[in-house]
Amino acid sequence: MPLKLSGNTFLITGGSAGIGLALARRFLERDNTVIICGRSQARLQEALGIHKGLKGRVCDVGNVSERLELARWIRENYPHTNCLVNNAGVQRRMELENDEPWEAVQAELRINLEAPIHLCRLFAPLLKKNASATILNVTSGLSFVPLANVPVYSATKAALHSFTQSLRHQYHGKIEVIEIIPPAVQTDLGGPGLHDFGVPLDEFADSIVAQLASNEREVAYGSAAFNRTASRADLDEVFRHINSKP
Ligand SMILES: NC(=O)c1ccc[n+]([C@@H]2O[C@H](COP(=O)([O-])OP(=O)(O)OC[C@H]3O[C@@H](n4cnc5c(N)ncnc54)[C@H](OP(=O)(O)O)[C@@H]3O)[C@@H](O)[C@H]2O)c1
Repeated sequence: MPLKLSGNTFLITGGSAGIGLALARRFLERDNTVIICGRSQARLQEALGIHKGLKGRVCDVGNVSERLELARWIRENYPHTNCLVNNAGVQRRMELENDEPWEAVQAELRINLEAPIHLCRLFAPLLKKNASATILNVTSGLSFVPLANVPVYSATKAALHSFTQSLRHQYHGKIEVIEIIPPAVQTDLGGPGLHDFGVPLDEFADSIVAQLASNEREVAYGSAAFNRTASRADLDEVFRHINSKP
């Protein structure tokens, strides 16, 4: 069944900026209840102040107890929540030979992979109680071919793509599972200025929301749409291209 674009209650992790906020705005305009979360109180308050009607709560999804607390708060305050958008993510450039603190790697794994897997499990019982239960996982064009200077990030996105397929299979007929697959998009992912080469955020978000109304379960854009269906030979060529030194 296509996702109906109004009358839902969405929880969007990492909805205070970038892709999450762009989706939140569009869902809000279409008569949905939209709840966002993020780590920074200031960033969250700014988003809530600009987009009247948005609801929000500070939550670091990389932290287990904060995930549990988020789930409890949503059950109590927004029991009609039927759509979970696992969007929060971080991206770190790293040289694998450098001896950086292991905690930094663990944090990236926790936010990008452990959190969405745990949140699916925590929210599935609530989502299933409501009509049109849907989980939307935000992966990446890098789920299909890694960018070698963001090796852990690329690995988490490949793993989340895999998990999303299994989730869809196991919840067939109970929860719709949609994968949103962005290409490089102009946001602050990885730090300000690092994604200026990507597609404009509004162009990307408009296309994604339009595609969500279709029956497509994997919703991609631009180069990510190419990667999604590319052959192994094509992906080898993409690998060479994106990993060639300038
Ligand atoms: N932009 C791209 O080129 C691109 C391409 C492919 C996939 N994606 C994926 O799209 C998703 C959104 O990325 P974006 O580009 O919009 O990045 P962004 O502009 O950096 O925004 C990230 C959002 O997530 C929040 N966030 C980060 N860590 C969090 C945590 N531990 N707990 C809760 N919220 C957290 C941030 O707020 P706080 O910092 O306040 O927590 C912010 O609201 C990510 O999963 C990313 O991997 C992006």
